Amino acid sequence: MRILVTGGSGYIGSHTTVQLVAAGHEVVIADDFSRSKRSVLGRLSELCGAPVECHAIDLTDREATRQLFEQGSFEAVMHFAGLKAVGESVAMPLEYYANNLGLTLSVLAAMRAAGVTRLVFSSSATVYGENASVPMRENMSTSATNPYGWTKVMQEQVLRDLALAAPDLRIALLRYFNPVGAHPSGLIGEDPHGVPNNLMPLLAQIAVGQRDHLSLFGRDYPTPDGTARRDYLHVEDLAAGHIAALNVLGSREEAVSVWNLGTGMPTSVLELVAAFAEASGRVIPTVDAPRRPGDIADSYADPSKAQTELGWKAARTIQDMCADTWRWQSQNPTGYPDE
Ligand code: UFG
Repeated sequence: MRILVTGGSGYIGSHTTVQLVAAGHEVVIADDFSRSKRSVLGRLSELCGAPVECHAIDLTDREATRQLFEQGSFEAVMHFAGLKAVGESVAMPLEYYANNLGLTLSVLAAMRAAGVTRLVFSSSATVYGENASVPMRENMSTSATNPYGWTKVMQEQVLRDLALAAPDLRIALLRYFNPVGAHPSGLIGEDPHGVPNNLMPLLAQIAVGQRDHLSLFGRDYPTPDGTARRDYLHVEDLAAGHIAALNVLGSREEAVSVWNLGTGMPTSVLELVAAFAEASGRVIPTVDAPRRPGDIADSYADPSKAQTELGWKAARTIQDMCADTWRWQSQNPTGYPDE
């Protein structure tokens, strides 16, 4: 298939691009490079064996997006583009709502105009909100605790409403748990824009010597070691989940399908710190700190729906996730080169 990958130069989009090309698909990337670097594209050419077509456009620009689709002959869209920093979304709510909703509305309008019916959408476990029980299941109610999370809840709603009006659509809402890790080559990985918010890139930057310690946000959670637990998922498994979803989308009866993508296994902050220290051979100094507002004690998936319906199961271990992150970070201590 010829597939438009929005946000294809970002962390998850780039890993998925490599797997799509390996599976025989033709990928076209659209990205505004506001949170990624153009030098990702050279790495993608290397991994894909040929350059990947890329359009540097702002997808909130409806006319530009319409033209891209008019000329693109796309058969499916994987929509990764969006802003994703929780703290930034609290400080800049209008930018988050305008950008994330604007992107999706523009892409959907262009899809409708061009007759493209298949969409795989990057949603998040954040839509389960702060009071969800674990493991989290797809039929649980949704809510959010910050503007970023609300943009995901709202985008899911927009997609459901559109599917009611346009029942020919086939949409996958993929709810990611905590994506970490990197391609085993060390050529592509997570290159956060500014100071990382997330645990794994912080551990990688501490191990490589760019930061001196990790603040442990909360030691008093009702978990076995008192630190919060998350469902860390290797980005290569996550990318494979997208291919699996795309493969079944055409034969789904319902217009909208929701799948959790996670391992189903919780790992605490202290467990991840220890695993990363082991994988990198570096000491990770930690300092106790108060809980981070909005954090919950436990977040992990019930991944059985994806297993049954997609034949997909996360295969990589926490050790693989740490080893691959460390290979990427030690080979690229400051991330991708500036273009
Ligand atoms: N943590 C620390 N110190 C840090 C950073 C994080 O102790 O410096 C802890 C957090 O408190 C949390 C755990 O590490 O307990 C994981 O934190 P992340 O920020 O890596 O991940 P979150 O689960 O908080 O956030 C992720 C995604 C968000 C999404 C959210 C809920 O990054 O996009 O899951 O689904 F909104």
